[in-house]
Amino acid sequence: MADITDTAAAAKRAAGYMAAGMVEDGMVIGLGTGSTVYHTIECLSGRIRDGLSVYGIPTSYQTAMRAREYGIPLTTLDDNPVLDLAIDGADQVDPGFRMIKGRGAALTREKCVAAAAFRFIVVVDESKMVPKLSGTVPVETLPFATKPAMAQLRGLGCRPFIREAVKKDGPVITDNGNFIVDCQFNEIGDPAAIEAAIAAIPGVVESGLFTRFLGNTTVIVGDDKKCGVFNSADIIT
Ligand code: 5RP
Repeated sequence: MADITDTAAAAKRAAGYMAAGMVEDGMVIGLGTGSTVYHTIECLSGRIRDGLSVYGIPTSYQTAMRAREYGIPLTTLDDNPVLDLAIDGADQVDPGFRMIKGRGAALTREKCVAAAAFRFIVVVDESKMVPKLSGTVPVETLPFATKPAMAQLRGLGCRPFIREAVKKDGPVITDNGNFIVDCQFNEIGDPAAIEAAIAAIPGVVESGLFTRFLGNTTVIVGDDKKCGVFNSADIIT
C-alpha cells in the first residue's frame, strides 16, 4: 500500500479510489498510467479479492506490471476493442475538459484506450485543474521523421525538445519504440486546433492534447476530505 505522506498524495488516492468504486462487475476497463491510477489499481485489487470480476487493458508496461502484481486480469484491444470505461490521470484539465497528458510518455496508448471506451474517467488532484492549458505538450514521433516533425512543430508556435532519458543515455524510447518531443507552448488558445494541426504532421504518432473526450468524460478531483465529481453538464466552454 502506498505511503500517503502529503495532501496531494492523499487527494490522488481519494480520486483513484473513487474511480475504482465506479467499476461494475463484468466490465472491461482501460487502466491509465501514473501515480493517481496506481491507487485505482490498488483499490480494484481489493475489490477483486472480494469477488469483483473485471478485465483491464493497460496503457503502458508500467501499468501492466502493476496490474499483474495486484492480481488484475488483463486483456487486449484485439480481444476487447470496445471498453466499458477507461480510467486515467492527467497533467492539466481546463474547464472545457480539454487535457494535456503524457508526462509518463504513455499518451498514445492512453488515447487509443480512452477512444475505445464508452466512458472516460479522469482522476486528478486540484493542482491539475487550470483555467487555460499551457506549457509542455508531449508529442510521440517516429525516430525516422523526428527532425522534420520538429521543424513543423516549431511552425505551430512552440519550442520542441526531444525528451532525454534518466538512467539511460539518449532519448526516451516509448513503449511503442518511438521518441517523445516535448513542445513548450505559452498559452494554448485553441487546444482542438493545435491537436488537429499536430496530428497532421507526418511522423507524428500522437500528441498529449486530449480535446475530443468531452461528452462521455467524468473528472474526479481528489481531496483528502471529499472529491469533486464533474460531468459533461459541468463543462464551461
Ligand atoms: C502518463 C500520463 C499520466 O496520466 C499523467 O501524467 C498524470 O500522472 P499522475 O497521476 O502521476 O500525476 O499522462 O503518460
